[in-house]
Amino acid sequence: MNVGIYPGSFDPVTYGHIDIIERSARIFDRLIVAVLNNPQKEPLFTAEERIVMIKNSVMHLDNVEVESFSGLLVDFARIKNARVIVKGLRAVSDFEYELQMALMNKKLDKEIETIFIMTSSKYSYLSSSVVKEVATFGGCIATLVPPVVEKRLKEKYNEKHGKKSN
Ligand code: PNS
Repeated sequence: MNVGIYPGSFDPVTYGHIDIIERSARIFDRLIVAVLNNPQKEPLFTAEERIVMIKNSVMHLDNVEVESFSGLLVDFARIKNARVIVKGLRAVSDFEYELQMALMNKKLDKEIETIFIMTSSKYSYLSSSVVKEVATFGGCIATLVPPVVEKRLKEKYNEKHGKKSN
C-alpha cells in the first residue's frame, strides 16, 4: 500500500491545504494528514481543535486520516509506514526553507522521499497567518477557509475580545 504523509501546523487549515490534500489523496492509497503538536509554537488552536477542523473539511475523502504528532516527522512517518512526505509549494520564497527540511529529513532517514505539489494559482497567496490576520480585523474569509474554520475563527476572536459570537 502506497502511504503518503502531509505534515503541517494547519493553524488553521485553509482551502490551500485542502487543495493539496485532495490532489494527494488521488496519488496515494492512503494519505495521513499529520498535525504538528508543538505547544512551544503557541498556536491559536490546540492540536485537537485543528484536527477536528481538518476532519470536518475532508469528510468527502475516504482514504484520508488526520492525526497529531510530536517529535521528528520521519519517526512518525516510519511508524505509519509512510515512505513519502508531501509538501505544498506556493512560491519561490517557500523553496529555500522546504529544501532545507527535505534535505534534513533525507539525512535523518534516507528511505523517505519528499515530493512537492505546486499550489493552485488561486491559492498561491494564501497562508494560515494571513487568514488569521484578516479574521482578527473582521475581514471576510469565506472564500479562504472551510465554513467550520470560519466559524471557529470568529468564535476564537470573539472570545479574545470578550464578545458573544452569533
Ligand atoms: O505548516 P508548517 O509549520 O510549515 O509545517 C512544518 C512541519 C510541521 C512540516 C515541520 O515543522 C516539521 O516537520 N516538524 C517536525 C520536527 C522535525 O521533524 N524536524 C526535522 C525536519 S527539519
